[in-house]
Amino acid sequence: MDDEELARRFRESARGAGRRAPLYRRFGEAIADDPETARLLLHAPADQRMPVLLYACVHWILLREPGHELRRWYPNLTVRRAEKPPGGDPYPAFREFCARNEERLAGLLAERTTQTNEVGRCALFLPVLAEVAAGDRPIAHLDVGASAGLNLLLDRYRYRYEPDDGTGETHTVGGSSTIGGSTVELVCGTRGDVPLPRAVPPIADRIGLDQSPIDVTRTADADWLRACVWPDQADRFDRLDRALAVASVDPPPIVRGDLVDDLRATVARLDPDAHLVVTASWVLNYLDAERRRAFVDTLDAVAADRDLTWCAAESPTLTAELPWPAGVADHDRAHLTHLLRVDWRAGHRTVAHLAVAHPHGYWLHWA
Ligand SMILES: C[S@@+](CC[C@H](N)C(=O)[O-])C[C@H]1O[C@@H](n2cnc3c(N)ncnc32)[C@H](O)[C@@H]1O
Repeated sequence: MDDEELARRFRESARGAGRRAPLYRRFGEAIADDPETARLLLHAPADQRMPVLLYACVHWILLREPGHELRRWYPNLTVRRAEKPPGGDPYPAFREFCARNEERLAGLLAERTTQTNEVGRCALFLPVLAEVAAGDRPIAHLDVGASAGLNLLLDRYRYRYEPDDGTGETHTVGGSSTIGGSTVELVCGTRGDVPLPRAVPPIADRIGLDQSPIDVTRTADADWLRACVWPDQADRFDRLDRALAVASVDPPPIVRGDLVDDLRATVARLDPDAHLVVTASWVLNYLDAERRRAFVDTLDAVAADRDLTWCAAESPTLTAELPWPAGVADHDRAHLTHLLRVDWRAGHRTVAHLAVAHPHGYWLHWA
């Protein structure tokens, strides 16, 4: 990977960070013009060379060690202590931190993988699962790249869908009960004809598949999940902690394995009488083009034995080999999250582009 490709990745990450994440947007813009810092990413294995991994490794150190000057620019590390991040450019402090901690960062980059488990994405999947379940069919849910499996618990959260333009009514769905002393409420702005579910769908069976599963009951694992969250977004730390509390009462089963090689064996563990729904969010971008094709081929092979629905929340720019309908990859917002739904019924495959969405589920614009 050359300097040009590294710069492109950081520039693209700055674009993706957008208004909600000014700190990482600034880092992305600055590192794109700073090859020396960008090259730190080369310590990561080729399939993990995403800017967010560098940010997570830096954040991991800051979360565990209070003494670093750079912490002052991280809203999540200051707001709770009623401090304000200093004004001015945070990048010189970031750069200096990276230079001073190069060896430690190199070690972390070599061994860690991006594991962000974003429960906000449940608000994107819920309408699809609810529609599939509408015929009173219980669901067998398999989440590939499940991380800690928090998105397998979408029937335990509460949802508030609010029309983006301020017209129309807020639609609330999901439980009001407290689990593990915690309630998770996900708020999602909507535009267009989102098929808003009347109830959370019945989940008869669930399982996650991940190459390095996170154990919600282990503090160090939970800390790594926190390190993967973007510091500007205080609400995400709060909902992550709430979801971890819910999950720790009855953690979802997660199988360690590869989402291509171990897919069929994992499907075989699920209730054969329930309708299989496979979800994948921000994981297929970590595969190379050939493995992405192999994943789709494997789903085709699974469909020879049982009907299924697959819903992906991925960026078409980064996953061009998925069966996106024509035109989606050229969408002016193809770098954002798009929802792809593929159904197999009696071996016959249908494909639909459902929506454009915020990567963390803050909004859902139906196509
Ligand atoms: C960015 S996280 C997304 C987690 C979750 N899907 C979500 O949306 O919250 C990507 C996850 O995919 C897993 N992963 C990456 N490549 C994989 C593969 N080939 N097989 C299984 N899991 C994989 C990583 O370990 C990580 O937990």
